[in-house]
Amino acid sequence: MKIKSLKELKNIKGQRILLRVDFNVPISSGGKIDKSEDYRIVQTLPTIKYLIKNKAKIIIMAHLGRPDGKVVEALRLDPVAVRLSHLLKKGIYKSQDILGQEVEKHISEMKDGDILMLENVRFDKREEKGDKKFAQELAKLGDIYINDAFAVCHRDQASVSTIADYLPSYAGFLLEDELNNLSAVINKPIKPLTVIIGGAKISTKIQLIKRFLTLADSVLLGGALANTVLNVMGVTTGKSLVEPKMYPIIKKIKLTDNKLRVPVDGVMAKNYEAKIGRLDALADVRPEELILDIGPDTIKLYEKIIKSSKMVVWNGPMGLIETPFFAKGTEDLVKILAKSKAYTVAGGGESVQVIRRLGLEKKFNFVSTGGGAMLEFLEGKKLPGLKKILIK
Ligand code: 3PG
Repeated sequence: MKIKSLKELKNIKGQRILLRVDFNVPISSGGKIDKSEDYRIVQTLPTIKYLIKNKAKIIIMAHLGRPDGKVVEALRLDPVAVRLSHLLKKGIYKSQDILGQEVEKHISEMKDGDILMLENVRFDKREEKGDKKFAQELAKLGDIYINDAFAVCHRDQASVSTIADYLPSYAGFLLEDELNNLSAVINKPIKPLTVIIGGAKISTKIQLIKRFLTLADSVLLGGALANTVLNVMGVTTGKSLVEPKMYPIIKKIKLTDNKLRVPVDGVMAKNYEAKIGRLDALADVRPEELILDIGPDTIKLYEKIIKSSKMVVWNGPMGLIETPFFAKGTEDLVKILAKSKAYTVAGGGESVQVIRRLGLEKKFNFVSTGGGAMLEFLEGKKLPGLKKILIK
């Protein structure tokens, strides 16, 4: 995979760089970004610092949430600009608009190394439609387009993909790192390769599971998505979240294959608000119970497989991590992966949240900023945001 890299750009001094990032991070009700939630911002710092050092004029484009083409006050990018400014220890000008006179005037007055952050690009309904006119209007603000927004590269949107038709386009360092690491998993896996897939809905991850049943040596499931598979295997799962519409698709998978592993025990409770769970074998879940976490026998089984692996890829939590009572399975998994000698790759918003909560991100070989983008890339889909960045 050959990437048009920012490193190839010579002499960017004074050039207006339109930098697309993905700063779609949770904002607390106090309008702040928690330290454990700023990973996507932190990961763009190498690109931004490089542009500052090389005296470019940096115009940042980003989205937050799904405002549906309207101005939504709670989704303005001001808290993100504050966090970025804090991390860079440098002032940032945050405009209240995406386009218009104020923006143009500010850009004309920018000095080398200055940073301007435009307002949430999704406030304009043309963004999500991938509108050409909107992309052209954005493109006029800059001389060069840098995409460092891996996490939104699966969206065919104006500031992600369309804009690349109107400006010379390059990948930032975050995007390059994501592509190098994730493509190694697919193209140069170190065997034995183990893939751990968790999360709520099997419908969003079935393609990934199917792909890795071909590529990997072991596929370990956890989280509510394992319930649907358990049902098809003949194990009842009480009141747990299941997706019966997926039964026919799962029935086509060879479930007796030793490659595919499902939890053997779990932590059960009567509702999502419970503060204590009951540990039992999955075969003994009661009709009124929900399975909310994996149990210690599952962890032991998965640890053994991880220990004999040379590469491990993990996406999605093993239980209901929103509450500390059902986060243990996922936290234990993070600790096992952090100690593992295998090449470890993790991703997905909730997985990253737990890794950061435990302060263990440096113990992984690579932690992706992508959620849906990581899944689609690993599934082998072509991401629209990469069309002008990859050289065939
Ligand atoms: C993400 O958080 O996965 C990306 O920013 C994409 O967001 P979207 O699913 O709202 O397009």
